[in-house]
Amino acid sequence: MTSGPRVILDCDPGIDDAFAIFCAVRFCNLVAVTSVSGNVPITHTTTNALHVLELAEASVPVFRGAAAPLVVEPFFADRIHGEAGLGAGATPPPQADAEPEPAASAICRLAAEGPLVIVAIGPLTNIAEAVQLDPELASRVDHLYWMGGSTTVGNVTEHAEFNAWADPHSIEVVMASGTPITMFGLNLTHQVRLQGTHVDRLRTAATQTSTPAAEFLAFYESHGSRDGRGQPMHDPCAVLGFTHPELFETEPGNTLVHLSGDTRGMTEMTDSPHAGTHRITVATKAAADDVIELIMTAVIDPQARS
Ligand code: BDR
Ligand code: CA
Repeated sequence: MTSGPRVILDCDPGIDDAFAIFCAVRFCNLVAVTSVSGNVPITHTTTNALHVLELAEASVPVFRGAAAPLVVEPFFADRIHGEAGLGAGATPPPQADAEPEPAASAICRLAAEGPLVIVAIGPLTNIAEAVQLDPELASRVDHLYWMGGSTTVGNVTEHAEFNAWADPHSIEVVMASGTPITMFGLNLTHQVRLQGTHVDRLRTAATQTSTPAAEFLAFYESHGSRDGRGQPMHDPCAVLGFTHPELFETEPGNTLVHLSGDTRGMTEMTDSPHAGTHRITVATKAAADDVIELIMTAVIDPQARS
């Protein structure tokens, strides 16, 4: 889609990131994809972003981002996403290369050129680096939709969601900058689950995108969900939270980001603002069936040809 506000998708593909890329191609005016170290190392997330865009026949530039978090050591989720990040096996070499400009610089440049929305679905390292490059960035970004954090339980530790655990210092930098942010945490994304029936549907659709996506999802699904309700499709929620806000309920909140110790990565919600808390918007409820339907539509036909 080419109308609407310009969007950067900052991602660490990642299987649910790949599904989010298909959603962004279908529903956003996507002007850039930036890669970040997260689910797998930066070489893989960059290659995977290029590959998924090529599957979707989307000519969108990819800017390679941070190879490591701001302060802590890199931490990967290859057990969930596969060693190369898109399920079993290696990603085929993409035809295009990443752009020479680093992701943080591209984010600053694109924000300076006009109204911009950022959808970030990995650790926030690139956005934090962009804030450090341009202290005015917060005032130039219309809104940041972020998949990360949780108002309830974590998935790396009892307290911490993966993207928050992987780089808590970057969340602090971004939130402290005053960038308007809506958080799509685990409390929201656990409402949106894909199961084996969705794998079957993607296989049956047999499109250029749905056939590989079915195998990504089959790998992701093979880990089984902890409660047997299917695997959460985290990252597309942040894209669709921007493009289809009518499908999500949100509320304002105050959050305290825990940087270290046993609660590292916790995005603790507090009743009232106090020193160290940040005012954000929190997504609380999804119209899950409608959200899932949009995800399936985008994965099967990202260019909306049929
Ligand atoms: C988040 O962690 C990653 O593994 C997923 O891609 C998603 O962004 C969920 O905790
Ligand atoms: Ca991700």
